[in-house]
Amino acid sequence: MANAKKSLLLLLILSFVISCKKDVDVITDDDVYNLIIPDGWPAPVYNFENNNITKDGFELGRKLFYDPILSRDNTIACGNCHQQFAGFAHLDHAVSHGINDLNGKRNAPSLSNLIWMPDLMWDGGVHHIELQPVAAITNPVEMDETVANVVSKLQAHSSYPSMFNKAFGADAIDSQLMLRAITQFTGMLVSYQSKYDDYIAGNATYSQQELNGLNLFRQNCASCHTEPLFTNFNFINNGLDQTFADSGRAVITNDVNDLGKFKVPSLRNVEKSYPYMHDGRFKNLTEVLNHYATGIKQSPTLHTSLQNGITLSTTQQQEIISFLQTLTDNKFIKDKRFAEVQ
Ligand code: HEC
Ligand code: HEC
Repeated sequence: MANAKKSLLLLLILSFVISCKKDVDVITDDDVYNLIIPDGWPAPVYNFENNNITKDGFELGRKLFYDPILSRDNTIACGNCHQQFAGFAHLDHAVSHGINDLNGKRNAPSLSNLIWMPDLMWDGGVHHIELQPVAAITNPVEMDETVANVVSKLQAHSSYPSMFNKAFGADAIDSQLMLRAITQFTGMLVSYQSKYDDYIAGNATYSQQELNGLNLFRQNCASCHTEPLFTNFNFINNGLDQTFADSGRAVITNDVNDLGKFKVPSLRNVEKSYPYMHDGRFKNLTEVLNHYATGIKQSPTLHTSLQNGITLSTTQQQEIISFLQTLTDNKFIKDKRFAEVQ
């Protein structure tokens, strides 16, 4: 009897554990369009409260993300500069490459876990994920279009009016609905299934090299690239330059104390999202580690913790790189929900 009770209890605990895990680890047909908040993460700053995710809304957002109709001459889609296989960064492009082959001055960041970010863009110029597409659409070297014109192109399109109707019950397309649909897609880009996440959950083991790398990372890097999102969301000068071709945060604040400061980027999927930094100056992670070790440039706004650089041996640098590679989330990069519909 006691044994039977015990095994019943065990079964109950087990099924409880499984049902708890379900939301987080296993994507079933039922929850494909539910937002996943991974265990142990903070609450997101954008929570879809006023923009309920639905299958139709998400699918509309996905179509818009990959549709060049959002650009003036119908040639450039969001997905051109944010490629899934590169963690939604622009592979091998130091600075953005937009309409008419024009180059911008900043590197397209990888996109994931955006709803946790209080500020968007390298200089934090955008505070709300729903408004972010306006910046891309109207940027003269990205999509060079007006929001009003996109809306009228969508309204005149053969399938968009019925898709908007299905998603939002709307008779006419307007800019707010368009922005909300895109946000259902971009906001759902949650990367939480890397080897690192499995290791933290106790479901994977690290090699000695990866473990050493994690410890070195926590000692030297995590004050800015803070777990679990691998950013503390601050604006910081990490010693790239002595004088600044791009003023960074000061573009927004007009404050000399912000010159050369940029948003600390998340390092999730960093192995895939090269080149690195706001201007894409480093081709690989070895160059990044060399920068922190021996390349720090002194300037009045340099973060105090970096004034003497981060001294690491070549072996230690390699260990950190091995650790950074465990932040690659292949489930995310290959997730069919996030791919362009062929
Ligand atoms: C021509 C290339 C290009 C196109 C097209 C483009 N982007 Fe970007 N994206 C960038 C660049 C470059 C930045 C960084 C800009 C900055 O910091 O000033 C960026 C930044 C972002 C960010 C902020 C990420 C962060 O971590 O702060 C989001 C979100 C984003 N883009 C989504 C989109 C969406 C949605 C579209 C389509 C409506 C789009 N992008 C179109 C190049 C592009
Ligand atoms: C004092 C804060 C700080 C510390 C400490 C720090 N970083 Fe950074 N890191 C930044 C900032 C800020 C940027 C973006 C700078 C820019 O582009 O202007 C950055 C950028 C990066 C990038 C480029 C990511 C991308 O997508 O372009 C990598 C990789 C990186 N850091 C790795 C590390 C590693 C590894 C360490 C430890 C050895 C480290 N960082 C320590 C603040 C910091």
